[in-house]
Amino acid sequence: MNELDEVVHKASVEFVQALTPADLENAKARYLGKSGVMTDLMRGLAALGPEDKKSRGAQINKAKQAIEAALNDRRQALADLELQTQLQAEALDVTLPGRQRGVGGLHPVSLTLERIEALFSTMGFDVADGPEIETDWFNFTALNTPADHPARSMHDTFYVEGGSAEAPNLLRTHTSPMQIRHAVQHVKRYCGDESGLFKGPMPEIRVIAPGRTYRVDSDATHSPMFHQCEGLWIGQDVSFKDLKYVFTDFCRTFFESDDLVLRFRPSFFPFTEPSAEIDIQFQQGPLAGKWLEVAGSGQVHPNVIRNMGLDPEIFVGFAFGMGPDRLTMLRYGVNDLRLFFDGDLRFLSQFQ
Ligand code: PHE
Repeated sequence: MNELDEVVHKASVEFVQALTPADLENAKARYLGKSGVMTDLMRGLAALGPEDKKSRGAQINKAKQAIEAALNDRRQALADLELQTQLQAEALDVTLPGRQRGVGGLHPVSLTLERIEALFSTMGFDVADGPEIETDWFNFTALNTPADHPARSMHDTFYVEGGSAEAPNLLRTHTSPMQIRHAVQHVKRYCGDESGLFKGPMPEIRVIAPGRTYRVDSDATHSPMFHQCEGLWIGQDVSFKDLKYVFTDFCRTFFESDDLVLRFRPSFFPFTEPSAEIDIQFQQGPLAGKWLEVAGSGQVHPNVIRNMGLDPEIFVGFAFGMGPDRLTMLRYGVNDLRLFFDGDLRFLSQFQ
């Protein structure tokens, strides 16, 4: 092996020993760089005569080309290796189980609202929906609760922009404004051009209105936002007896408990007369024997009937307002209302 072949051989070996592109560049510099072996050899040509220079020059060039070829081979090999490693690192194992899409479900209070709607619709009740930002008129005044009425103080709420200075708009404190809103629409549909209080004829008003309500209140059993479901039945012959029948039937079906006992405890609401708080008592289970308040109710006050556009000499009926959050707590044995609104999946997923 002559001297040039040896250089080529050594260079090829060093290139193959280079394990990274940086190592390879260093090895390249040792042979092809400014002070590399090959450059030195080229410089040596200067001392030769023209004939020798020509043949020696050709030999050196050949050796240089061989070194460059070895360098390119190794560059390519390193690039292939890197690609291979990268592909291996990023490889997808298509046989692994896929990421599951969690199964969603309804919120426990939504389950209760659906259940309430289903049960009342079997008794011929419509379902109505209304605004959560209310006017002072619908939330209070139309419900026989004028501005200076002491009952307003139990309904401390959040006032919002809109309305007038004396009567600003507010977040509704109960679903009772829906009694007026729904009845007014109903009456409009049947009264034609008649002005004054409507005397009929018209189909009965039978409606429930579930939704969110707001009060300044917050502890384990009160939340500033909570749910209510209003009920209203207006006709020519709808008595307190009907209220008792309808609500008892609803509660027994809702809790799937035929021996559930109800108590109508005299109370006061400006918009009903007489008024009653409705308590229930389970005969079995952990709550057996306890009286639990679930709704306010009563015969709709004549002033309220008037604000519906109806003649109170002809139309009568009852209303109730219950707390679906409370019903949900009782049905599932939940003891802290706030759990419903924390959004903790460990709690919520128990209802799927
Ligand atoms: N709106 C009353 C409340 O929130 C409940 C109620 C509704 C009472 C309908 C009587 C009739 O306390």
